[in-house]
Amino acid sequence: MAVIEVKNFKKSFGSKVIHEDVSFYVKKGECLGLVGGSGTGKSVLLRSLIGLEKPDSGSIEINGIEVSKYKESQWVLLRKKVAYAFQGGALFDSMTVAQNLAYPLREHSHLTSHEMKLRIESQLNDFGLAGTELLYPSEISGGMQKRVGLARAMMLEPEVILYDEPTAGLDPYNTKRIQELILNLKRKGVTAILVTHDMPTAFAVCDKFAFLKDKVIKEQGTPDQLKGKPDSLIQQFIEGNVL
Ligand SMILES: Nc1ncnc2c1ncn2[C@@H]1O[C@H](COP(=O)(O)OP(=O)(O)OP(=O)(O)O)[C@@H](O)[C@H]1O
Ligand SMILES: [Mg+2]
Repeated sequence: MAVIEVKNFKKSFGSKVIHEDVSFYVKKGECLGLVGGSGTGKSVLLRSLIGLEKPDSGSIEINGIEVSKYKESQWVLLRKKVAYAFQGGALFDSMTVAQNLAYPLREHSHLTSHEMKLRIESQLNDFGLAGTELLYPSEISGGMQKRVGLARAMMLEPEVILYDEPTAGLDPYNTKRIQELILNLKRKGVTAILVTHDMPTAFAVCDKFAFLKDKVIKEQGTPDQLKGKPDSLIQQFIEGNVL
């Protein structure tokens, strides 16, 4: 069964149509690469999956349950299972790394402060961030900030994670570390959507692709079906052709 299924999704802002008719699904443990030019509505689509935007019409099913008409209180519960790693990290600048990681636990769990401390320590280790707990986001590198953002998104051990440009602006070493983190989570059975312009990362971690263009998904397929195929839109996108 699909963990995420979007059918006939439509979204406009005022008179500007962003999505005309978008449908796709992601099965348990799969990673879908959602690709497309800047401004094609990738972030809006991800935001809609956690209730931060409302579709004009169409359905969004998570684990077979229609969620698009959820009330805010229902979205709050769903966001424990469906995490969003924001484009740009969205860390709290006035909080230390440890306080950033503690935030979702304070909001959504009933752990004691000792249990929280242990959970944060283990998460920092898993994400290669040991020793940074008392630092503020401005005191760590961009690559570390990205990892803190992912670590925070994963604090509640969600079933689904939506990555919005997790490697943008990172050097090759940090990009590789993020790829490894995504692959590790995938091995644990986490279902994912990866929005990225970083095609080597997309090909390293995604099982299939959906290419957004002209307000619809113009092309879908597996890496084997698309990579290196001259008539594939994704291949042309990689080569920087005008689409
Ligand atoms: N709250 C909003 N109000 C009005 N227009 C919006 C709003 N949010 C997004 N848009 C518009 O929707 C379009 C899609 O935006 P979105 O951020 O989803 O693009 P994107 O595909 O993620 O681009 P990028 O690759 O640059 O991140 C853009 O034209 C943007 O200006
Ligand atoms: Mg975006």
